[in-house]
Amino acid sequence: MAHPLHLNITVEVTTEAELSSAEAATWQAARAATNHAYAPYSHFHVGAALLLDDGTIFRGTNQENAAFPSGLCAERTALFGLAASQPERHIIGMAVAARPAEGDFVAVSSCGACRQVMAEYEYRQKQAIPLLLQGPNGSIYRFQSLSDLLPFGFSADDLPAPKA
Ligand code: THU
Repeated sequence: MAHPLHLNITVEVTTEAELSSAEAATWQAARAATNHAYAPYSHFHVGAALLLDDGTIFRGTNQENAAFPSGLCAERTALFGLAASQPERHIIGMAVAARPAEGDFVAVSSCGACRQVMAEYEYRQKQAIPLLLQGPNGSIYRFQSLSDLLPFGFSADDLPAPKA
């Protein structure tokens, strides 16, 4: 018989004052990174920050292109940049911030392509990465895991095992 399947994803609604110092630094880094976005077409500045296990923070920003599909989102420039330059590093937190070129921060979530990539890097390091996103009315959403953004996602577990 058909029956509902309830998904259990917990999002904590918090505020900047309640963040740990490492979380607050990650949050501020994502916001500051929006100043380095290259967004001459959308005029929408996005910053992403990855908190590493030694407390350092690696940043990414959206990078646009006159040939529109050639650009890349902030989340992926951060994850690809870290993986390309320091693949052994362990990520323990992530934050994303976005704002119009001339304006205040807005509540947005990551696009579908970024969600797939975020889930991959979490899978790769075999440890959940909490995520901070802007929520409504100045709140901050804390997800427990990047893959919480992608229910029913596809991962390496779905590929057939290689033949011996
Ligand atoms: N963008 C991101 O950087 N991250 C997202 O998850 C959504 C969209 C960027 C891509 C493009 O440069 C601009 O925002 C407008 O879509």
